This record gives sequence, structure tokens and C-alpha cells, in this order.
Amino acid sequence: MRTDLLEADQAGIRCAADIIRAGGLVAFPTETVYGLGANALSEPAVLRIFEAKDRPRGNPLIVHLAEAAQLATVATAVTSRAADLAARFWPGPLTLVLPRAAAVPLVTTGGLDTVAVRVPDHAVARALIEAAGVPIAAPSANRSGRPSPTRAAHVRDDLDGRIEMILDGGPTPVGIESTVLDMTGESPLLLRPGGIPLEALRQALGPVRVVAGEDHEAAGRSPGLRYRHYAPRAEVVLVDPGSGETAVQPWLEAGRPVALVAQRPIALERARLTVRVMPTDLEAYARDLFALLRELDSVGVEVIVVEAVPETGLGRTIMDRLRRAAATS
Ligand code: TXA
Ligand code: MG
Repeated sequence: MRTDLLEADQAGIRCAADIIRAGGLVAFPTETVYGLGANALSEPAVLRIFEAKDRPRGNPLIVHLAEAAQLATVATAVTSRAADLAARFWPGPLTLVLPRAAAVPLVTTGGLDTVAVRVPDHAVARALIEAAGVPIAAPSANRSGRPSPTRAAHVRDDLDGRIEMILDGGPTPVGIESTVLDMTGESPLLLRPGGIPLEALRQALGPVRVVAGEDHEAAGRSPGLRYRHYAPRAEVVLVDPGSGETAVQPWLEAGRPVALVAQRPIALERARLTVRVMPTDLEAYARDLFALLRELDSVGVEVIVVEAVPETGLGRTIMDRLRRAAATS
């Protein structure tokens, strides 16, 4: 059976809230990417998320609240530093890892005694959580390992027939997932770069520890880092800025369809070469990144050669996602 796709107006949101309350699954827009939502406090409802996505059970979910005032229902021992961060960055693309409150079942947190929580900056998401009357657990609404969905159509491509409903709220404005910050240790630890740049966190907090994606301790603390992510079907190859034309040559010579993605005009024209020029503005780049990876898959390229972007602000997040997309294990 096909999944219903409803416009995210009042009637659509009411219908979606009924499904959540009844233990069902609804994909909905947030400011970052589309989320696949279920009642965060219901074990059977949350288990269905893992099934629909083919997601490993050990990979914990983010719990979404309509407002920061509800934090005490899902987290305990909220320090003043964490509360300050919530006041400053919520609603917004910052997820805080805090000690888990007993009301949150262990399936939601992948068995951990901590819980990841955020208040999304999207009117539809917040209206849905409010109407449902429960916190909503929501990973990105893609099949596990695929690029995150930034349009309702991406959700349908991955999850049609596996979930009750998709709320269509148009393209998501940030386009990359939230920053995940662990607040349970001595000093704040960045677990996943995201929509709030590291620079903004350091300005608010002072020192923030950062661990590379390959770091084993970090992999233990943020289980999601262990899994291959954001991968289109095509092979992704990351190259230095300015070297794209040279890098595509071997594939073109072998007669294989290849894409070249850069932040500058590309004069090269060849049969079997698809060129995409991305914005130099990193916010605009981030907004389009996952849609671009999916689009290049649909064009049928076998290889996507991407020129690196500067690693400042959202550039750090973009490079993190590109490296994961390029990783082969
Ligand atoms: O922007 C976003 O964060 C989107 C929207 C829908 O809110 N959600 C999202 O969820 O990206 P997901 O499941 O794709 O990524 C959640 C990340 C994973 O890397 C997971 O390991 C980490 O957050 N995480 C969740 N709970 C955690 C916890 N208790 N401790 C450490 N890491 C946690
Ligand atoms: Mg995800």
C-alpha cells in the first residue's frame, strides 16, 4: 500500500498527530531534514522506526520537543550550562545529549542511559509535537545509509509503503542534520557537526572538544558514527579544489558516466560528464547537498567527483557528510 502524502496544513497536522498518538509513523519536515516520527515514550511505536528504516537497534534516536519547558519529561540533571545552551539555540539545529529520564524507554536511546533531545525550528514540526501531546522520536526519514531527505519526495522514494503518512512541508531550509553535543561529561563534546557551526558553540561555551569521525571512544558515545552514512548509490570521490577536471579523466577515458561537483564555473564539456556548480555561500550549499546526491543517482552517474569546500562554519559539516559519503567501509 502506498503511503499517504498530505499537505502540512492544519488538517494534515491533526491527522498526523492522531497517527502518532495511535502508535504509528509519520514523516514530517524539520528545519534540518525530514524526520521519521513516532511517540518517543512508546516502546512498540519506536521499534517500528527501526524496522521501517532498517536501522540497527543500537543506533539511538533524537527526541523532539515542542518547547524547552518540556525538557524535564525526557532528561534529568540538566546543568545550568545545558539550560543556557537550550535557551540560546532552541528552537534550532542543536541536539543536546543529557542523562535520560525514566519515562524514555531504552529502545529510544539505543540502550544508553543518555538521551539526545532538541526543539526543532520549524512551525510544522512544533505544531505536530504539540498536537500529538507527546515527545516525538525521529531519526532522519531515509533508509539507513542513504542521504538524508530534504524533500517529501525523498522520503517517499525511501519509505513508501513502510510508514503511515508523509507530511509535505516543502524543502527543508537548513538541509543538513543538527549538531549533536554531549553535555554529560566534564566538558562539552561535539559528537556530530551539524547546522549550528562549532564556532557558534565555542563562542557560547568556551572550549568544546571535538573528536574525529574515526575516533573509537567517540564511536562508542555516539553509535551513529559507526555506520556508513549519507551514501548515494554512486561512488563519491573527494578531491582538492581546482583538481576536478583532472580527476574525472580516468573515468571518462574508461567510458563511465561521471559527475563533477565544484564551487566554480567548469568549462569542461564531455559526453557522459555531468557538471553541477554549487554555491560558494556555504548555507546555500548545505541546503542543496543531499538533494544533489540523490539527483545525481537518478541521472545514473557511476562516480561523483566532488571538490572539497573550506572547513569553516557549515563547511566543516559539509565536509563531514562528504567524507562519510566517500567512505567505503
Ligand atoms: O537534524 C536532525 O538531527 C534530524 C532531524 C529529524 O531532527 N535527525 C537526525 O537523526 O539526524 P539521526 O537518527 O539520523 O541522527 C541522530 C544522531 C546519531 O548519530 C545518533 O548516534 C546520535 O544522534 N545520538 C542519538 N542519541 C544519542 C545519545 N544518547 N548519545 C549519543 N549520540 C546519540
Ligand atoms: Mg540519519
